[in-house]
Amino acid sequence: MIKPAGWLTVTLGPMVKILMLNGPNLNLLGSRETEVYGTASLADILAGLRSEFPDVEFHDFQANGEGALIEALHDAGTWADGIVFNGGAYTHYSIALRDAIAGIDVPVVEVHLSNVHAREEFRHTSVLTAVCQGVIAGFGPKSYSLGVAALLG
Ligand code: DQA
Repeated sequence: MIKPAGWLTVTLGPMVKILMLNGPNLNLLGSRETEVYGTASLADILAGLRSEFPDVEFHDFQANGEGALIEALHDAGTWADGIVFNGGAYTHYSIALRDAIAGIDVPVVEVHLSNVHAREEFRHTSVLTAVCQGVIAGFGPKSYSLGVAALLG
């Protein structure tokens, strides 16, 4: 078919689906230790991602418990194209979350708002990184957007 000039071409492909997953205490972002984590809330960060990446279908989930995060990872394994995951303190010791990431066939980028390596010794270790595609830490809310950019390649 010959299209007249200015014909609107709409590409109807399936949208890339990314889960923004957050662990314990991250529901308090915006008011929690603002000198470390800044003043943006999780809702602000998600809104930022949606405006920066309009072609991505973002889903988000936050839980303070390990079990709910594991369930969310299993579930995302059935539909997500990628996951940006801030495991909060679980990052440093949850073998169960590590196994959940290893058990799904979806790339996960580990993100942290703060530069965990410049903080207390116990934050220097992540049991998740080895089963993630990579890790981004220290850029505040931008860590999430860098994580999404990494997933999109
Ligand atoms: C964090 C760093 C963790 O050490 C801490 O327990 C958090 C947040 C970050 O985003 O900088 O809860 O993951």
